[in-house]
Amino acid sequence: MDIYVEPIEEEQLKPLFTDPKQLGFGSIFTDRMFTMKYSKDKGWHDAKIEKYKPFSLDPAACVLHYSQEIFEGLKAYLSEDGKVLMFRPEQNARRMNRSAKRLCMPEIPEEYFLQGMKELVLMERRWIPDAPGTSLYIRPTLLGVEPFLGVNPSAEYLFYIILSPVGPYFKAGFNPVSIYVEDKLVRAVVGGVGDVKTGGNYAASLMAGLKAQEKGFSQVLWLDAKEQRYIEEVGAMNIFFVYQDKLVTPPLTGSILPGITRASIIEMARDLGYQVEESPITIDEAIEGITEGRIKEVFGSGTAAVISPVGSLYYKDKNYVVNNNEVGQITRTLYNGLVDIQYGRAEDKYGWVHVLGRK
Ligand code: PLP
Ligand code: COI
Repeated sequence: MDIYVEPIEEEQLKPLFTDPKQLGFGSIFTDRMFTMKYSKDKGWHDAKIEKYKPFSLDPAACVLHYSQEIFEGLKAYLSEDGKVLMFRPEQNARRMNRSAKRLCMPEIPEEYFLQGMKELVLMERRWIPDAPGTSLYIRPTLLGVEPFLGVNPSAEYLFYIILSPVGPYFKAGFNPVSIYVEDKLVRAVVGGVGDVKTGGNYAASLMAGLKAQEKGFSQVLWLDAKEQRYIEEVGAMNIFFVYQDKLVTPPLTGSILPGITRASIIEMARDLGYQVEESPITIDEAIEGITEGRIKEVFGSGTAAVISPVGSLYYKDKNYVVNNNEVGQITRTLYNGLVDIQYGRAEDKYGWVHVLGRK
């Protein structure tokens, strides 16, 4: 694929963030973005790395009315010896294409997705922060942009990738978060689009998220939509329950996102000798396990959140504290194992890390 690179004058470049230790999540964007168009007659065309700027969209664009939109989230990391690394980006390309299929959007050839992203990241490498726990968050997005008001798949699409230097997703960093278990609103039903990374899922989650925040909780834990009994996932993470020597995480039944971090943790944990079960767990079982001390630790997993210890679950007006609201040993071991691979500090025996170049 030929990518046209729009020249940007040195003096047009944005000032870099001042202190990488102060970075929050997702409010600073780099100088450039990758864009590529699709139309039925031309297929994918017009690949560009251009200046980061607002788009102009027709007010009738399909995405603005019927939400034909999907996205991905992954990160570029800087190793201590100055290498630019990415973690399993081909998995994001594949998940994006599974999402595209479900929403009747054109698939993006994996090699275009990876090439566009890697060239953009390398061009923007001055933006990759180097403080511990920081990285460059990558947001590939696909929109249906044909202007029409009938409910049909769009005939035209815009794919773009933007970059944001980030610190921890949760203000607390690697410290236990408090979670609100939502028992009225639901996120997704089996057969719907809960396992697809599409904006509508997040729009539907806002009301419960806001309610949880107002009550002082970091995130919502969703239960299944049918019975409100089975644990599904957290707003931006999958969830794991740690028993003595066993990890349990809800299975991928179609209403939760198949997390790439989740899959990586399952593989790593098994290699470390833990038993891992992908099996249904009800909220009552979880509460009972926590209260009786059989569930020793709980943590969430996601690209933005990495591995986040859960310090408490609030369910039906009662708060259940996990592991004394402290980071557990297994959570810490898995966290260190994962970030050591992501930042190139440990041997990557899985072949998960792509080396793009040097900063
Ligand atoms: N579940 C939801 C709803 C998410 O938004 C995310 C984040 O992407 C995850 C789970 C974790 O997925 P991954 O590990 O691929 O980032
Ligand atoms: C991610 O972890 O990449 C996410 O997409 C979570 C969130 C910021 C929506």
